[in-house]
Amino acid sequence: MTTMARKLITLDEFTIHETRQFPQAKGELSALLRDIGLACKLINKQVMKAGLVEGILGKQGSTNVQGEEQMKLDVYADNMLISVLRNSNDCAGIASEENDDALCFDDEFSVNSKYVVLFDPLDGSSNIDCNASIGTIFAIYRRVSPLGQPCTQADFMQSGKNLMAAGYVIYGSSTMMVYATRRGANGFTLEPSIGEFCLSHPNIQVKSEGKIYSINQGNWNKYSEGVKQYLTHCMNESYSHRYIGSMVADMHRTLIKGGIFMYPADSKNLQGKLRLLYECNPMAFLVEAAGGLASTGTERILDISPDKLHQRVPIFIGSKSMVERALACLAADQEVAAS
Ligand code: AHG
Ligand code: MN
Ligand code: MN
Repeated sequence: MTTMARKLITLDEFTIHETRQFPQAKGELSALLRDIGLACKLINKQVMKAGLVEGILGKQGSTNVQGEEQMKLDVYADNMLISVLRNSNDCAGIASEENDDALCFDDEFSVNSKYVVLFDPLDGSSNIDCNASIGTIFAIYRRVSPLGQPCTQADFMQSGKNLMAAGYVIYGSSTMMVYATRRGANGFTLEPSIGEFCLSHPNIQVKSEGKIYSINQGNWNKYSEGVKQYLTHCMNESYSHRYIGSMVADMHRTLIKGGIFMYPADSKNLQGKLRLLYECNPMAFLVEAAGGLASTGTERILDISPDKLHQRVPIFIGSKSMVERALACLAADQEVAAS
């Protein structure tokens, strides 16, 4: 029996097996994924205790760089990821939704590390206090700055198409890590008795046609005519509407069941709400690796050259045919507006 034929394949075993397909690879990406997995297991431990232990639920009493109110778990998750990645041999620096600037580690090991990691440490913060699913989203790039010195801002400002790996951990009815490389998307469920993520959803493929649409429909009055037309189409087709309000949870369902998730621009949020580097790029990379599509409405998400660290973009993401249909509605509306 080969190792990979055994029933439980751990995340570590899986990534090492993948690395062996590339003789020149040194296993740094595997080690980095293991480190991210470790940080997320520690965050998970805290999420599981929320409600029982003082000091986990509720507001921190501060705002982040984007003026959003921080929850205690946002801050805990951010600190945990930074602390684990600072100790990692393979991470030169990090950028986080919660911090103003990227953090370039300057110790003797990190300056020679090949990768930088960007993350949304706790996605769906508004769901923390009501025990709905939340998550951590991560994106890994190979740095473009020379080794031997601390990484630079340019290492973080890369297009999503340069991603080496990206994914999320969902703290849901079970805890899962789903991540993709160019070789495809795979899901791992945390087996609590051994504390390991184990392969449970190999080679995830998102259906090309789905029957679920996901959007904050309460914003209807602020949407463009094109968005309204697509939503009317979804209602005419009697598609189910599902919206948790945690991108990770809504995207996890979209990957598993098919469907479309949208956070469009609206008359109040002209660039939408979701962040390109911490939310949209990693999810777009994952969905494309699973055969789906992700667009701003006019441009492929992964093609965007970021102009700032905390840039926001509109997003239409999920099953290929559904996204194409949404884009057609948006384009038709643009044509009417231009004529
Ligand atoms: P975060 O908790 O990291 O700030 O992200 C929240 C995001 C995302 O998870 C979700 O899809 C969206 O905000 C929900 O926004 P609305 O409440 O405006 O629908
Ligand atoms: Mn988020
Ligand atoms: Mn967040």
